[in-house]
Amino acid sequence: MSTWANLGLQDSASPLMEQLIFFHDHALLILVMITVLVGYLMFMLFFNSYINRFLLHGQLIEMIWTILPAIILLFIALPSLRLLYLLDEINEPYVTLKSIGHQWYWSYEYSDFNNIEFDSYMIPTNELPTDGFRLLDVDNRVVLPMNSQIRILVTAADVIHSWTIPALGVKVDGTPGRLNQTNFFINRPGLFYGQCSEICGANHSFMPIVIESVPVQYFIKWITNNNYS
Ligand code: CUA
Repeated sequence: MSTWANLGLQDSASPLMEQLIFFHDHALLILVMITVLVGYLMFMLFFNSYINRFLLHGQLIEMIWTILPAIILLFIALPSLRLLYLLDEINEPYVTLKSIGHQWYWSYEYSDFNNIEFDSYMIPTNELPTDGFRLLDVDNRVVLPMNSQIRILVTAADVIHSWTIPALGVKVDGTPGRLNQTNFFINRPGLFYGQCSEICGANHSFMPIVIESVPVQYFIKWITNNNYS
């Protein structure tokens, strides 16, 4: 999760988020190089004497500064497209999780197993344990197995919500009347925090998501011994 004064991306906990961070750094590097070059050129204009008696046309430089930006854009567009298709790929999921957005909480269904379903509400600040994270912890966490492909199906019951977990590189809108799909793979055990990221009403800020990533045998234990359904 994010900690104090962290302005950048969170550490990745999935292969797709790792790729997203690589792409972000790549695009940022190109952006910085362009900004420095253009900044230098603009600064140098201050020292221009505006005198050049022989300047009538400059077809060569115009060719260069038309084609060069197009080539630079390709270096962003092609990796971006690669990542887009990579994110869309579904690789034989081991578990399918359904998450339904409500005003203002999430409900989950594990229909592959015992048709487990439960609601997940934020823990209010006055009920928060001393080691709890304010506005981020929930009463019922989403337990998922690590090191396995997980498919999620997202929808909503009332207005548009968005199921977003930054560390896993997941952000899917839950839209009433539609079913969206994505998948991810969690690299390590731990807790992964997320929040709704579509402005969905007065308590939009108070419908967080907590994923509890555990080894597969613990997941199987949880799914067989739970008392939700
Ligand atoms: Cu649900 Cu914002």
